[in-house]
Amino acid sequence: MKTKGKEILRTDWFVKDRFGLFIHWGLYALPARHEWVKNREKISDNDYQKYFDHFNPDLHDPEEWARLAKNAGMKYFVITTKHHEGFCLWNSKYTDYKATKTSYGKDLLKPIVEAFRRQGLKVGFYYSLIDWRHPHYTVDKLHPMRDNAEERDKNSKRNIKKYTEYLHNQVRELLTDFGKIDILWFDFSYPGEDGKGRDDWQSEKLLKMIRELQPDIMIDNRLDLPGIGDFETPEQFQPPCAPKDENGKIKVWEACQTFSGSWGYYRDEYSWREKDELLTTLIDCVSKGGNLLLNVGPTGRGEFDNRAKERLEYLGEWIRQHGRSIYNCTQAPSEFKCPEGCKLTFNPDTNRLYIHILSWPYKTIFMQGQAYFDKVEYAQFLHDASEVSMKGLEEWQTHHAPDSEKLFALALPQKKPDVAVPVVEIFLKK
Ligand code: GLC
Repeated sequence: MKTKGKEILRTDWFVKDRFGLFIHWGLYALPARHEWVKNREKISDNDYQKYFDHFNPDLHDPEEWARLAKNAGMKYFVITTKHHEGFCLWNSKYTDYKATKTSYGKDLLKPIVEAFRRQGLKVGFYYSLIDWRHPHYTVDKLHPMRDNAEERDKNSKRNIKKYTEYLHNQVRELLTDFGKIDILWFDFSYPGEDGKGRDDWQSEKLLKMIRELQPDIMIDNRLDLPGIGDFETPEQFQPPCAPKDENGKIKVWEACQTFSGSWGYYRDEYSWREKDELLTTLIDCVSKGGNLLLNVGPTGRGEFDNRAKERLEYLGEWIRQHGRSIYNCTQAPSEFKCPEGCKLTFNPDTNRLYIHILSWPYKTIFMQGQAYFDKVEYAQFLHDASEVSMKGLEEWQTHHAPDSEKLFALALPQKKPDVAVPVVEIFLKK
C-alpha cells in the first residue's frame, strides 16, 4: 500500500503536464536514414566508424532547442543518452564511444539538460538497454552482425555480465552527475530465444539501485519486469480507449509518436504527418487520460529541421490559447457523452469540461444525457472567452423533433472560429 501511495506521488506531475518532447540524437543523424540503420543494413563497427569520425554538430544550440520545446507547450523532455548504436552523448568514464571523443569534443548532454531546466522543463533520460557496440554484448537476433557466422562464433568469448556491469555503471553515472532526473526511459527488452531480457540486464538489481539513487524518478515499463513500471509506453500507436487496471482505474500512460516514422533524423522520409493530425493526437491522448511524447530527430549539425519546427510552432500556437483543455486534464466522467465529431477532456480540479470540436457542425452542437441539463452552468469558447449560448434550442426541439430524445444543445456560430481546433469550455455546477 505504501509503495502504491508513493507511486501516485511519483507520477503526479506527469499526469498533469501531459505533453513532452522526445529527442533521438546520435551518430545515426549522419547516415540520416533511420536510427536502426546499423541493424537494417547490417553495418559492421568498422564501417560505422565513419559516422563517429565525422560527427560534429557545429550549429547545435541547446538554448534554442529548449525554447522550441517550451514554445510548443511541452513541459518535459526525454533524450537518448545512448541509443542502440551505443554512442553516448555524455562524457561517460566507462567508454570512449562518446561525444567528447569526436571532433566536436564536448559533452552534449549537460548543456541540454541545463538549458531545458532553465526553461522549466522536467528532465528525462532514455537509455538503450541494447548496445550494438559494446564488445561483450552478445550477437543476437537484433544485432547488426546477426547473420555473420564469424561474429556469432565470437559470442563464446563474450561475457554479457561485463556488459551488464557497464549498463549499471552508466545508469549510476547518469543518475549521479546530472542532478534530479524525472524520468528514466529504458528501451527495450526482447526476452526469449536469441533475445535479451531481465536476466541479461539484471533488471531487479538495476531497479533497486535506481530507486536508491533517485527515489522519485519515474521508470518506464520496458525492463522486462511484468507489472513493474510507472507508466505504459504505447509506441507509434494510439490506444482505442483509456488503458485501465483491474480496478477500472486509468493507468498512467504515454504514447510516443514521431513526426514521420523514424525517430532519428531521416532526410528522405516524406511521410511527415499533417499538423492537424498531430494536434488531434495530443487531444486524443488527454481525452483518454494519457500523455503524448512527441519526437524530434535533430540533424547532424545539431538543429531541428524546418519540418519539425513548423509543426512545433503550430502546436504551440494552439496550446497558447487552449492549454486549459490539456494540462491538468483527463478523460471526462462517463455521464458526459461525447458529442459527434468531438473529443472531451475534463479538469477535475476546476470542474470544467472541454469539448474539442474536430469536425465543425452546422450551427448547433448536441449533447446527449441528463448530466448536461443538470450540470452545465456556463459555456464559452476557450480561445477568446466568448459566450457560447445555450438558449432557444428547446424550442427548436419542441417544434421540429418532438418525439426525439431531449438533447442538450449549444448554439455555435455558423462559421468555424479561426483556430485549428475550437474548444468549448464548460463550467460545471459544483
Ligand atoms: C523502439 C525503437 C527505437 C526507439 C523507440 C522509442 O523501441 O527501437 O528506435 O527509440 O522505439 O520508443
